[in-house]
Amino acid sequence: MHYLNDPKLFRQQCYINGEWVAASSGHTFDITNPSDGSVIGSAPLLDGFEINSAIEAAHRSLPEWKRKTAKERSLILKHWVRLIMNHQEDLATIVTLEQGKPFKDAKGEITYGASYIEWFAEEAKRIYGEIIPTNHPGNRILVSKDPIGVCAAITPWNFPFTMVTRKIAPAIAAGCTIVLKPSEKTPFSALALAELSRRAGLPKGVLNVVTGDPAKIGGILSTHPLIRKLTFTGSTAVGKHLLKNCAETIKKVSLELGGHAPFIIFDDADIDSAVKGAMISKYRNAGQTCVCANRFIVHDAVYDIFTQKLVEQVQKLSVADGFAEGAQLGPLIDRASLDKIDIQIQDAVSKHARILAGGNIHALGGTFFQPTVIGDVTADMRISHEETFGPVAPVSRFHTEQEAIQIANNTESGLAAYLYTKDISRIFRISESLEYGIVSVNTGIFSNEAAPFGGVKQSGIGREGSKYGIEEFVEIKQICIGGILPS
Ligand code: SIN
Repeated sequence: MHYLNDPKLFRQQCYINGEWVAASSGHTFDITNPSDGSVIGSAPLLDGFEINSAIEAAHRSLPEWKRKTAKERSLILKHWVRLIMNHQEDLATIVTLEQGKPFKDAKGEITYGASYIEWFAEEAKRIYGEIIPTNHPGNRILVSKDPIGVCAAITPWNFPFTMVTRKIAPAIAAGCTIVLKPSEKTPFSALALAELSRRAGLPKGVLNVVTGDPAKIGGILSTHPLIRKLTFTGSTAVGKHLLKNCAETIKKVSLELGGHAPFIIFDDADIDSAVKGAMISKYRNAGQTCVCANRFIVHDAVYDIFTQKLVEQVQKLSVADGFAEGAQLGPLIDRASLDKIDIQIQDAVSKHARILAGGNIHALGGTFFQPTVIGDVTADMRISHEETFGPVAPVSRFHTEQEAIQIANNTESGLAAYLYTKDISRIFRISESLEYGIVSVNTGIFSNEAAPFGGVKQSGIGREGSKYGIEEFVEIKQICIGGILPS
């Protein structure tokens, strides 16, 4: 175990109603370091009644929390941000241990995650209502935005810190209470965050963190009548299942699901800038983000120069344990992720794609994979239709603008798309034609707390971050007041 300045941040219990609790059965499950498979700790395997008790705690604490002024909530959230930044090194150590990403990137993730709490601490004060004039002179319509109530959040392993803050910060800021289930692969970042919320003065029951069997907990959170809102980031298959479950009690739902991002490069693009954008978009987090470029679609005239320059950069990447000096790519999260990539590559090669860089398990073994570039990719290959979630860049050619748009939109996913061109009219034309929630033009990275994040089609429902993110956690109420004019 790597040394923590504050070992009390490494919690191996659940956080329910302001108390650290084990499963009453005593059952736990192990969490391993993806870099070497070693066990770094264990977390409680809670039973159904214990999940219910977390929901009830959130329900009990709701009236008092939502009565607080926005400024009171904001001050607690800001205190939480200060504590997070004071413990940045420890929190980053926990992220690297359980997720595998390079320590430098983990530190970046703590800053990124904290920025959502800071942002929503301010947005809490801007949940404005309205007065609407009516066609009846003696009436006025008041519109208020009320906290939706008890929320549930289910978060993934790829950003074990930020995917949590991006969901719980707007909920708490809006006056909701919440039950969080972090990924069973990476619960310790969320539990450390809960410990800091306690120190920041967040009242008991406002944030509850539960761990255990994902199917069981997901089943309870998506069907429990006291939960009014469910927010989930993860696979499209699980998202569909949760959405169906939520129908029974008509919960408000936000889903951030799979992506299949096209990265389109036109012949007038700045190729060095496109390569820089490709590197960050594709190889960030070892290719394990929902918005990673998943298909490079390159104009025939610049295909050769782009692939040559991309390969040069990819071959310089340092693959290593997250704590190693200079590490740029850590391991994949598990063996199943590695196998999926392997199958996609073998399928592509069997259909005449060419490996231009990498293509194999890395010499470090385990779940380390070589950063890979594959050329001559065609539409009949699995990699052209499936999300990869790994460090593999498949490159194909196009000749006309219409062809590029058709290839890019030929998917049920619609999270992020990238576009490189210097032609301003083309930027508008293509951006408006792309069926995606995010279009990133001449840059490989766009995520930040001020920007709306979310997808269309089967990539999801709702937006996170930005002024829109908090709207997901409020309900609009109309108060119609009559008798204003004397009769
Ligand atoms: C994700 O993979 O869902 C998050 C990526 C990001 O925040 O940029």
